[in-house]
Amino acid sequence: MNKSTHVNSSKLHVAVIMDGNGRWAAARGLPRTAGHVRGADAVRRVVEAAPGLGIGTLTLYAFSADNWRRPADEVRTLLRLFARHLRSETPTLAERGVRLTIIGRRDRLPAALIDAIAGAERRTADGGALDLRIAIDYSARDAIVRAATRLAAGEHDRAAFARRLAEACGGAPPAPDVDLVIRTGGEQRLSDFLLWESAYAELYFTPRAWPDFDRHDLAAAVADFHRRERRFGGVQAVAVAETSA
Ligand code: IPE
Ligand code: IPE
Ligand code: MG
Repeated sequence: MNKSTHVNSSKLHVAVIMDGNGRWAAARGLPRTAGHVRGADAVRRVVEAAPGLGIGTLTLYAFSADNWRRPADEVRTLLRLFARHLRSETPTLAERGVRLTIIGRRDRLPAALIDAIAGAERRTADGGALDLRIAIDYSARDAIVRAATRLAAGEHDRAAFARRLAEACGGAPPAPDVDLVIRTGGEQRLSDFLLWESAYAELYFTPRAWPDFDRHDLAAAVADFHRRERRFGGVQAVAVAETSA
C-alpha cells in the first residue's frame, strides 16, 4: 500500500476514549495499574473486531497530555505497558494487515517507548485492513496550535489545515473525519480528544468500564451509530420530500 494514501476513507472512523480503568480496579480492591493491564486486553478485542464492523480507521486515546499530572508511578507503569504491548502485538498486527501509527508528541516519551513506536510503525506500514491510531501524549488543542503555526502564507482552506494538523500529530497522512466517538467509563466529555476531526461525529457514552469493553459493546455502539440521522446542517430526508412535493 502506498503510505501516503488513505485506503480506508470509505469506511467508518471510530475514535474511542478508553476510560474507567482506575475505577474498574478500585471496585475490585486492586491498584489502578491493574486496570490498565486489563485495559490492554480490551484493546486487543476491539482491534480484532473493528474490520468486521466496517471500521477502516480506529483511533484509541491511550494517554493524554494532561495525564502527566498523575502520580509518577502510574505514568511510568502506563508508558512501560505501551512499550511492552507495542513490541508483543506488532507481529500479529502486521499479519492481520493492521497499520499502526501513533498520534501525539514524542519528544517527552522515554527512549524505549520511542523505539517501540518506530519499530511498530515500520513493521506495520503496509497494512491495508485497518488504520489503527493510538494517541499517546496527545492534546487536540496543542495539536491545533502547532498546526496553526505551521500554516504557510496562502494556506487558508480546511484541507490544508488538516494536512498541517496531521503533520503536527506525528506525520501520518490525515485520517478521515471521525464518524463516531465512543467513551467508556461513564463520563460524558471529550477531554481534549480530536476536537477538529470530530466536528460532526456522533457521540456514544457507555457506563461500561474500558477493561470490560468487548466486541459486543463495540458492535452495539456501531449499530447505534447506524440508527442516527446525520444531517451536517442540512434537513431531514423526509422534509426535503415534503417541500419538493
Ligand atoms: C483510562 O482510565 C486510562 C487513562 C486515562 C490512561 P483511567 O485511568 O482514567 O480510569 P478512571 O477514569 O480513573 O477510572
Ligand atoms: C481521558 O481520560 C484520556 C484517556 C482516556 C487516555 P481521563 O480520565 O484522563 O479524562 P478526565 O480527566 O476524566 O477528563
Ligand atoms: Mg479517567
